[in-house]
Amino acid sequence: MKVDGAPTRSIWVEADGETVTTIDQTLLPHCFAKITLASVADATRAIASMQVRGAPLIGATAAYGICLAVRADPSDAALDRAAAMLLASRPTAINLKWSIDRMTAALRPLPIAERLCAAYDGAARICAQDIATNQAIGRHGLDLIARAARARPGAPVNVLTHCNAGWLATVDWGTATAPIYMAHEKGIPIHVWVDETRPRNQGAALTAWELAQHGVSHTVIADNTGGHLMQHGMVDLVIVGCDRVSARGDVANKIGTYLKALAARDNDIGFYVALPSPTIDFAISDGIAQIPIEQRDGREQATMTGRTADGRIETVRVVPEGSAVANYAFDVTPARLVTALITERGVIAATRAALAAAFPERAGSP
Ligand code: MRU
Repeated sequence: MKVDGAPTRSIWVEADGETVTTIDQTLLPHCFAKITLASVADATRAIASMQVRGAPLIGATAAYGICLAVRADPSDAALDRAAAMLLASRPTAINLKWSIDRMTAALRPLPIAERLCAAYDGAARICAQDIATNQAIGRHGLDLIARAARARPGAPVNVLTHCNAGWLATVDWGTATAPIYMAHEKGIPIHVWVDETRPRNQGAALTAWELAQHGVSHTVIADNTGGHLMQHGMVDLVIVGCDRVSARGDVANKIGTYLKALAARDNDIGFYVALPSPTIDFAISDGIAQIPIEQRDGREQATMTGRTADGRIETVRVVPEGSAVANYAFDVTPARLVTALITERGVIAATRAALAAAFPERAGSP
């Protein structure tokens, strides 16, 4: 998507064919800075510190982390060490494991001399697949937005989203945002309510920045505002992203997503989850019991970071010294609260049967 009008993606390989560049998302929206990943340790650090974040981008970065590891040492032992290091960087998004498994399974059978080239090819394919997948999600989600637009001709379609499931969270297009960008390009009037998404403010900092860069009308709201807006007919549909969906359709996403689903259900508003198939974890069924929920450093909860009037980036404490804080990064929305899943193969029910029918090769069915 666009940055200052120029098409940009979130991760790429430089002209030398090996140097990996990405965007330091911890500095947005105040500063658009690129970072170079020179080693698997750099890639791991970028994921853990959330310089790169969002399930699909975590997966793509891990794939390039494997490339950088192979560049340094193509042996099996080094590949195993790199896979373990990357896998430990963040626990919730299953795209990380999907990507590492795919890369290592492709590389292990190869002679040492062929591994580096194959690794970069594999990572490039993961990125290309992510872009194509998100475009397909966009086309399917666009139908939902177009239907909402037809229901109230002339009025903007109001979409509420949580966190950042935009192009910054993927290689390009985003998942939840792909239908929004496509609707905007088609001239469908659309307005996005952007949950700020405490504690790290991915909505306020990243989604708002993305939408502004693309000229999409949006309003940033405090996380607790969605229910009020829904009660007053100001939300037509909710579209969020996803870090892991269980085989029966439970959805792990940024903390606070579950409360939006409850409010949507109480107000009879469609609650849609956009996800690429690598986000499906067919190995687990009960998402609430089985999806590991990341708990991050309490300082993220106790502080806020922003730009001062004179342009400095500062972090200030907003919680009394000594008060305990908890920083659960994700929650799980039970499948029964999900109106439908927007996947690259269509809009499907959040059920075991629908997921298995749409992705039989992943579900292990015939
Ligand atoms: O902690 P983050 O910023 O990595 O969390 C991101 C989300 O929760 C996104 O909604 C999810 O990864 C989907 S991204 C297309």
